[in-house]
Amino acid sequence: MTRFPAVDPIPLPAPLWLFKLLHNVTFILHLGAVEMMIGGLILALLLSVAARRRSSPEMLQASGMIAHRLPTVMAFVINLGIPPLLFAQVLYGRALYTSSVLIGVFWISVIFLLMGSYYGLYFSAKRAESKRRWLAPGLAALLLILTISFIYSNNMTLMIRPAVWQSMYRASPAGAQLNSSDPALPFRWLFFIAGSFPAAGAALMLLSLRQRATDPVRPFLMRLGGWSAAAGMVLEAICAYATISAQPAEVVGGIMISPLYAISAWLWVATAAICLLAGVAGASSRSPGALIASASALAVFLNIASTVEIRDAIRDLTLRAAGFDVWNRQVVTNWSVVGVFLVLFVGAAAAIAFLIGVVARARRVEEKYA
Ligand code: HEM
Repeated sequence: MTRFPAVDPIPLPAPLWLFKLLHNVTFILHLGAVEMMIGGLILALLLSVAARRRSSPEMLQASGMIAHRLPTVMAFVINLGIPPLLFAQVLYGRALYTSSVLIGVFWISVIFLLMGSYYGLYFSAKRAESKRRWLAPGLAALLLILTISFIYSNNMTLMIRPAVWQSMYRASPAGAQLNSSDPALPFRWLFFIAGSFPAAGAALMLLSLRQRATDPVRPFLMRLGGWSAAAGMVLEAICAYATISAQPAEVVGGIMISPLYAISAWLWVATAAICLLAGVAGASSRSPGALIASASALAVFLNIASTVEIRDAIRDLTLRAAGFDVWNRQVVTNWSVVGVFLVLFVGAAAAIAFLIGVVARARRVEEKYA
C-alpha cells in the first residue's frame, strides 16, 4: 500500500518539465538571496564586534554598509521564495503537505519568526546608520533566521521520508515535533549555512568595486570577501561530502548514472575550485580587481545552480524508491494559459533586471558608519 495521499484528480495544466524548470530557476534565486543574507549578517556582526575591539574604522564602516543592505536582501529572500513554494506544491504536494502537517507547529511559526527577523534587520540597520551599537538586535535577527532555515531543512528532509510519517503522526498529532531522527539533516542544514560565506564573500567583492578608488574600505571589502569566499567554500565542501555520504547508496548511484545530475555534480566541484581560487586571489590582492570579483560571483551563482540540481536529484531519486515518481502525472496542457504566464514571467524578470540596473547606475550616496 502506498504511504502517499491520493493524487489530485485534476491534471497538471502545463508540461512537467516546465514546472521543474521554473521551480529550479526561481529556487536558485531564492537560495542565492538566503545565503547572501545569512553570510552577510554573520560577517557584519563579527565586524561590528572586532571594529570596537581594534578601533578599526574600516571594519565599522564595512559592518554598517552590510547592515544597511540586509533589509533589502530579506525582501528578495521572501519574494523569491514564493514562486518555488508554489511550484513545489504542484509537483510534490502529496509529500510536502504531509511533512508540513507533521511539523505543523514549527512550520506555522515561520511566519512569526520571519516578521521578528525582518524587524530585527530594519532595527539593526537604523542603529548602524545612526552610528549606535546594533549587536543585540542583529544577534536576535540571526538566531531567528537560522531557526527558519533549520525548520525549512526539517521539512524538506521529512518530505522524502514517508517511512516515518505514521509513527511521527502517532507521536504528535498536533505537529509539535521536528525531523530529528534523520541522520542527513544536520549536515544538510550546515551545508546551506556554510554556503552563505562564499555567497556573501562574492557580494562583498562586487560591493568593493562600487567604492571610490581612494576609499580605504574598498581594498578591505575585497580582502574580506576573498577570505569569506575561500574559507566558506572549504567548509561547504566538507558539509557537501558529509551530506552525500548520508544518502543511501542507490541515490548516490542514481546521481552518477544520470547525465544531467552527473554533470551538475562535476559542475559543483569545478565551480567550488574556481570560487576557492578567486577567493584566495581576492584575499591577497592589494587593490580590487573586477575580474576576480566577477569570476567569484559567476562561480558562486553556478555553484548554487548545481546545488539546486543535485538537491532535486536527491529528492526525486529518494521519492521514486519509496513509490512516488514525480514524472508520473497526468498532464493536459492549456497552452493559452501557459503563454500568458510566460509573457508575464519574462516581463516581470525584465522589470526586475531593469530596476537592478537603475540601482547599479544610481549616483553613489555618501555612507558614513564609522
Ligand atoms: C529568513 C527567511 C528564510 C530562510 C533563512 C530560508 C532558508 C531556506 C533554506 C536553507 C532552504 C533549503 C532547505 C533544504 O533543502 O534543506 C529553503 C528552501 C525553501 N524555501 Fe526558504 N528561507 C526563508 C524564507 C522563505 C520564504 C518566506 C519562502 C516562501 C514564501 C521560502 C520558500 C522556500 C522554498 C519553497 C524552499 C524549498 C523549495 C523546494 O524544496 O522545492 N523560504 N529556504
